[in-house]
Amino acid sequence: MTIECRRIDIHDQLFQQELDLRDSVLRRPLGRVSSCDEQAHDNDGNHFVAIRGREVLGCPGLYIKWPCVALLRLMAVRESERGRGVGSQLVAFAVEWAIANRFGEFEGEVRVAAAKFYERCRFRAEGAEYVRHGVPHLKMRWKIRSEM
Ligand SMILES: CC(C)(COP(=O)(O)OP(=O)(O)OC[C@H]1O[C@@H](n2cnc3c(N)ncnc32)[C@H](O)[C@@H]1OP(=O)(O)O)[C@@H](O)C(=O)NCCC(=O)NCCS
Repeated sequence: MTIECRRIDIHDQLFQQELDLRDSVLRRPLGRVSSCDEQAHDNDGNHFVAIRGREVLGCPGLYIKWPCVALLRLMAVRESERGRGVGSQLVAFAVEWAIANRFGEFEGEVRVAAAKFYERCRFRAEGAEYVRHGVPHLKMRWKIRSEM
């Protein structure tokens, strides 16, 4: 069965799967759960999922930071599906949506352990590493418009 990327809203039946994936990949390993703040932001976010059938394999969210700058957050791919192009397919899909909606830049507060993935997707590191929730992070940016 092929993998398809889709934009969903928080009322979509797939959204609960997105939340579960985020929690299991990004939160629970750090002994955390999604905060109320984070859940409040979900209303304002644009949610993208990669699905096979009705099964969510991966997701990120795009949150508007400035009128033309979108924050790419909460990128997670199910462990058994990693290294097969699901993450890059999702980023490419989100970029297409962002360009169509007049965004010129992507920003990410990314885990250093995943920085190579973002570099492959053409993000570039900015500034020094810092620690958030006990995990080394980096700010990365991709000026999409300058490449068009
Ligand atoms: C990071 C993550 C989203 C990547 O998704 P994925 O589906 O495995 O990525 P892809 O298969 O599309 O990989 C694209 C490229 O990035 C590379 N890559 C992916 N994850 C990587 C990692 N953690 N470290 C180094 N390189 C990585 C792949 O090797 C591939 O390179 P190639 O094009 O030369 O073959 C996924 O590994 C994940 O969910 N990790 C755990 C959660 C996490 O760290 N999220 C990011 C928080 S900022």
